Amino acid sequence: MDHMSRIEMLIRDMTLVEKLGQLTMTAAGYAVTGPVIAGDSTDAIKAGAIGNLLNLFGAGHVHELQRLAIEESRLGIPLLIAFDVIHGHRTLFPVPLGEAALFDPDAWALTAREASREAAADGIAMAFAPMLDVSRDPRWGRSAEGPGEDPWLGAQIAGAKVRGIQGDDLSAGEALAAVAKHYCAYGPVTAGRDYASVDISERCLHEVHLPPFAAAIAAGVAAIMPAFTDLAGIPMTAHVGLLRRLLRDQLGFDGVIVSDYNAIAELMRHGVAANLSQAATLALKAGVDIDMMANAYRLGLPAALQAGAVTMAEIDAAVRRVLTLKERLGLFDQPYQRGAAPESGAARADRRRLARSVAARAIVLLKNANDVLPLAPSVRRLAVAGPLADAPSEMGGPWSLAGEPATHVGVLAGLRAALPESEILHASGVGILADDVSGIPQVLDLCAAADAIILCLGEAADMSGEAASRAHPDLPGQQRAFAQAVIDRARMLGKPVVAILFCGRPLVVPWLVEQADAVLAAWFLGSEAGNAIADVLTGSVSPSGRTPMSWPRATGQIPIFFGQRPGGRPADSSDHFRSRYLDVPNEPLFPFGHGLSYGRFALSKLRVTPPHARQGDLIEVRVDVANDGARIAQETVFLFTHDRIATVARPLLELKGFGKIELQPGETGTLTLSLPASELSFLGLDLQPVFEPGEIEILVGPCADRSRLLVGTVQLLADDRPPVCSS
Ligand code: BGC
Repeated sequence: MDHMSRIEMLIRDMTLVEKLGQLTMTAAGYAVTGPVIAGDSTDAIKAGAIGNLLNLFGAGHVHELQRLAIEESRLGIPLLIAFDVIHGHRTLFPVPLGEAALFDPDAWALTAREASREAAADGIAMAFAPMLDVSRDPRWGRSAEGPGEDPWLGAQIAGAKVRGIQGDDLSAGEALAAVAKHYCAYGPVTAGRDYASVDISERCLHEVHLPPFAAAIAAGVAAIMPAFTDLAGIPMTAHVGLLRRLLRDQLGFDGVIVSDYNAIAELMRHGVAANLSQAATLALKAGVDIDMMANAYRLGLPAALQAGAVTMAEIDAAVRRVLTLKERLGLFDQPYQRGAAPESGAARADRRRLARSVAARAIVLLKNANDVLPLAPSVRRLAVAGPLADAPSEMGGPWSLAGEPATHVGVLAGLRAALPESEILHASGVGILADDVSGIPQVLDLCAAADAIILCLGEAADMSGEAASRAHPDLPGQQRAFAQAVIDRARMLGKPVVAILFCGRPLVVPWLVEQADAVLAAWFLGSEAGNAIADVLTGSVSPSGRTPMSWPRATGQIPIFFGQRPGGRPADSSDHFRSRYLDVPNEPLFPFGHGLSYGRFALSKLRVTPPHARQGDLIEVRVDVANDGARIAQETVFLFTHDRIATVARPLLELKGFGKIELQPGETGTLTLSLPASELSFLGLDLQPVFEPGEIEILVGPCADRSRLLVGTVQLLADDRPPVCSS
């Protein structure tokens, strides 16, 4: 019996209840990620009425339920077990936004692979990752889960993560099915409020929000999850145009579409379905195969079928896709292979080491006045203060369901381990959110005793992620008053202050950046956070992270991103009637790509060859990079383009590449970045790709600040014309 025939035979033999069971995913109750809906699934599994589970981990538990499906259900179809393996599983890596700061596709793939291995050892077969929603709004808590503000970066991350999660062979015991989510345009929720309605242009949808998903599909992603949100009145869960026509017909995606948690039932709240049966009909017609947590297919489709609103062929097509995925995952042939053997201690220790190095590389050094970092050897007494100084359980950040907080390393523990000879003084001062300021004086006393003060400030882990929007994305509680008091005291005493920010988003803290000597964005770095931070503070690792989102200087600048169009009245301080604020500059406090190291880099000699290019050509961009600093360090160089005159106004900067180079003090190297000319095509008036002849600016430098970029040009030629001589 070949594989297709097995699936076809099953479909032929299945009752409606069994078919709908394969289209149903229910929580097993081991972890909660939304409203608790399901109760005990045991009988339903035996009846074949539930074919997929989420929120269950641990090989023992998984195999127990798998055995029910295989041995006690009529057809013995294996369960698909899915889990939110977002930034690690038991071992946590930095939250995705922090990992984006690495600008390193190999590292992105490697952490995904390690997370998958660890989850597979826990019996899991599907990861609800990668999250690919471009976010230009720090108010939106889910910014933490995604790739940041840029679509091209999102596409690179998408490819790397899908490769890492799925590997070459989905049936391998270490591979999981990836789920690209949340399709799509979830990031621009109105006013940054999670779940709110989305209304953006079709161009923005295609230029900004779709590319990461197209890249995931190109990398062979097994499944896609529609967003909770609507797009201009059409909920994504029922979006025929974007699911069935674009995803399936145009992009050729033939994998599984799994709804988000209870999203099919929420079609009623959106106001497009009057009852569960209508909701189920809309979702199935749009192409959603698996109903997660709404029980809409089980309860609603039988009536819809009877009324002729859906056909058995439509149900069968969805069942076929689900069974095909189970087959590709090897679940029919080896249902117990994931979790068959516990992982070795060595594998887990290696993973911790990876977590530490990736976490250190995710840290973005935002400011380092007078080279206060790395800490000088003369710093013998260190005050480590603030509500996040000794908060190991917060280090995991949002979406750390299977994480093991007891094994997380906080800043205090990390520094104590790294500096056994130093005296490390500690007090929290204030809580993350609390109003009580009575602990501040104790920290002020520590300032007097210490050579330097490390202030650990920021958000609690659960202040970003889902349902965690903030109208004031700044330091919560009494932290500002606390930090100000410490800075004032330290300044009086002549002691340096290093502020470490824990956050799932860029925070709006211009006052802190102005006053602290050094500021680091530590996002949520995962299990090894404290060790990684110690590595950077002590200088054993030179920081190399670069922010994947712009840091606003005021909340009123949001949404803020580098890829803006010029408009007819671009900012110009000599002219009043220009696009600018009266009260703050247009520029962010820190642009996309900003991040310092312990080196000091200078870029020179930009070369763009050849000077003319046709669509099929490869353009090479070379730049010399010199480390004029006193320490070995790694520089990341970004390649942007700007099409100054085009049929459709193009953004002032478009990211098209990045590269890294590590240099010794005094060393100069050359970095080569390749730019396929085809990447310079864009969506024309009719939203179809066009490659327009003309001059393109090539801008290369350390971040998306135009004033810091070297500028060259390339002349694009139509394919039928010979090169133009410039003489
Ligand atoms: C989230 C998804 C997640 C799902 C399952 C939902 O609330 O939006 O990202 O994968 O829950 O936990």
